[in-house]
Amino acid sequence: MSIQDELKRAVARAALGQVAPWFGTNAAIGVGTGSTADLFIDELAAHRGSIAATVASSDRSAARLRSHGIRVVDLNEVESVPVYVDGADEIDASLAMIKGGGGALTREKIVAAVAQTFVCIADASKKVEVLGRFPLPIEIIPMARSFLVRELSRLGGEPRLRDGYLTDNGNQILDVHGLRITHPRSLEEQINQLPGVVTVGLFAARGADILLLGSPDGVQESRRK
Ligand code: 5RP
Repeated sequence: MSIQDELKRAVARAALGQVAPWFGTNAAIGVGTGSTADLFIDELAAHRGSIAATVASSDRSAARLRSHGIRVVDLNEVESVPVYVDGADEIDASLAMIKGGGGALTREKIVAAVAQTFVCIADASKKVEVLGRFPLPIEIIPMARSFLVRELSRLGGEPRLRDGYLTDNGNQILDVHGLRITHPRSLEEQINQLPGVVTVGLFAARGADILLLGSPDGVQESRRK
């Protein structure tokens, strides 16, 4: 296992402390997508008997949860999600994030919007001063692709189609390279308003509430100010 994988496992384990208050209750726990979220799911497995339900941000995570005998329900079946645990591709000091490297950004944003507390679990390589080195994923309606490539190029980025990839919702993804995102909240709003955009993978208006960051010195916890 690489050092990065060990850090991911450490934060996945630390996240158990954030969800443990809901073990033995009827709460549904929100579960994200990606390699770090996969490790969190594996940690949950030992507590399957105390977890009433989960909601998952992707078919992939739902399948992994079910493979451990953990119940997955549709988000429409629950009235609230007290806590949502997910990874990020990049996160800044304000706990704004780029997400969607795994293509699950739309469902991630929906679960995050419902959740009372968003816990981001990430290894230290994800922490950045300015968002944008990681290409910004945008889920789009396919017929709008050429229009959106032109519009996003005007914002200074270089949009590239994620070739051969369709989201769980049957849409395409443009990954926008070369952005330096100094004002994540306003860029999120601006891109959201372009016709044909389903979701932009900028999580600034609803960023993380808690970051568990794995470094060689241990897991550091920080909270949104
Ligand atoms: C999936 C995501 C993931 O949270 C993000 O890509 C981080 O993944 P990983 O934990 O594998 O680094 O947004 O859509």
